[in-house]
Amino acid sequence: MPPSIPSTFMLILLGFSLLRRGSLALAAVTPLWRGFYAGICPEAEHIVRETMRRAMDREPRSAASVMRLQFHDCFVNGCDGSLLLDDSPTMIGEKLSLSNINSLRSYEVIDEAKEELENVCPGIVSCADIIIMASRDAVALSGGPDWEVKLGRKDSLSASQEASDKIMPSPRANATFLINLFRQLNLSVTDLVALSGSHSIGMGRCFSIVFRLYNQSGTGLPDPHMDPSFRLKLDRLCPVSGDGNVTGQLDATPIRFDNQYFKDLVMRRGFLNSDQTLYSGDPRTMEVVKRYSVDQEAFFSDFVEGMVRMGDLQIDQPGEIRRNCRVVNNSPRHTRLAI
Ligand code: HEM
Ligand SMILES: *[C@@H]1O[C@H](CO)[C@@H](O)[C@H](O)[C@H]1NC(C)=O
Ligand SMILES: *[C@@H]1O[C@H](CO)[C@@H](O)[C@H](O)[C@H]1NC(C)=O
Ligand SMILES: *[C@@H]1O[C@H](CO)[C@@H](O)[C@H](O)[C@H]1NC(C)=O
Ligand SMILES: *[C@@H]1O[C@H](CO)[C@@H](O)[C@H](O)[C@H]1NC(C)=O
Repeated sequence: MPPSIPSTFMLILLGFSLLRRGSLALAAVTPLWRGFYAGICPEAEHIVRETMRRAMDREPRSAASVMRLQFHDCFVNGCDGSLLLDDSPTMIGEKLSLSNINSLRSYEVIDEAKEELENVCPGIVSCADIIIMASRDAVALSGGPDWEVKLGRKDSLSASQEASDKIMPSPRANATFLINLFRQLNLSVTDLVALSGSHSIGMGRCFSIVFRLYNQSGTGLPDPHMDPSFRLKLDRLCPVSGDGNVTGQLDATPIRFDNQYFKDLVMRRGFLNSDQTLYSGDPRTMEVVKRYSVDQEAFFSDFVEGMVRMGDLQIDQPGEIRRNCRVVNNSPRHTRLAI
């Protein structure tokens, strides 16, 4: 059953596992503040922004791919860089989870920033913070809003594929499910809709939409909430037994961060079911979609608030400043390198 929607039951289990590991603290556990590196690594924010700029020169889509990393890092046990850990002999990380495998990309942009930061101020800037800075830069450099990010996060000592599978929403999710999921992380209906506006940039795979083109909710029929000409276009892009890795754009202007995504939803031209449902599936989200479709400034300002709130997600756990974002500092791999 590809890809599964986490059930309420699974979310309860997640709740228990968070309780075992530490408390789920919705307010910051490590104090975060704006300008955190100003005194200890004044070049930090500049270095990350220039790294993001170079990545976008090489490949414009990397803005979307990097920004998505914040969502997938922060939702799983808080914004702690756990997403970036490669599998090790003692741990299966998050890169191979259902939502991430063959889908998340641009990890190397974070590596590139980390390498430069380690040269300039070793052991100071966390990988978790690099994700937060680079996501902000990706939005700003794509024509979206720019804002001051809160920093000071520590990197986790572990990662959990299981935790990722339990909490990351499926593209099949409906609005009611998404509202409840976001609420569990203290994120509002407005946050849900504004943050989904991140799909103003980037691409999605046929794999993520074939169910709604040919068998929505097991009906054997297409999703009825689709503009017919848009559906024909997607049918051609993603035939029933075609290559699931073929990609389509998430909105009509996929390298410009703007409110086109919401205009598309109103015209019933949303790519993912989890996009279109925000307009077609629930009056609470529909109202917000309509507003953003005619008021880009309102979208931008709510998006910034949502990104900051999502960036505040933390759990109480031990942390460190990783030297290499892909491995914890005292891993066997590092010990071997040190010998
Ligand atoms: C509300 C629930 C969400 C769901 C169900 C969802 C799901 C998805 C899916 C299925 C894709 C395409 C992946 C693929 O087919 O390979 C995607 C792409 C993307 N998502 Fe989300 N997403 C959600 C929210 C968010 C949030 C909150 C953010 C960031 C703030 C975000 C940022 C992105 C970006 C930028 C892309 C394009 C990435 C690229 O081109 O590499 N998404 N999302
Ligand atoms: C949830 O978010 C609101 C608004 O940002 C904040 O005032 C409140 O303290 C948060 N609640 C918890 C439990 O963190
Ligand atoms: C939304 O999805 C949930 C979880 O899959 C399901 O239980 C519920 O019936 C759906 N609600 C609507 C209105 O379709
Ligand atoms: C559509 O989905 C339902 C429920 O998941 C499944 O039983 C059925 O075989 C699917 N039909 C097709 C044509 O794939
Ligand atoms: C996409 O490509 C990867 C390898 O690059 C492959 O393992 C995977 O099965 C493909 N996914 C789909 C949905 O076709």
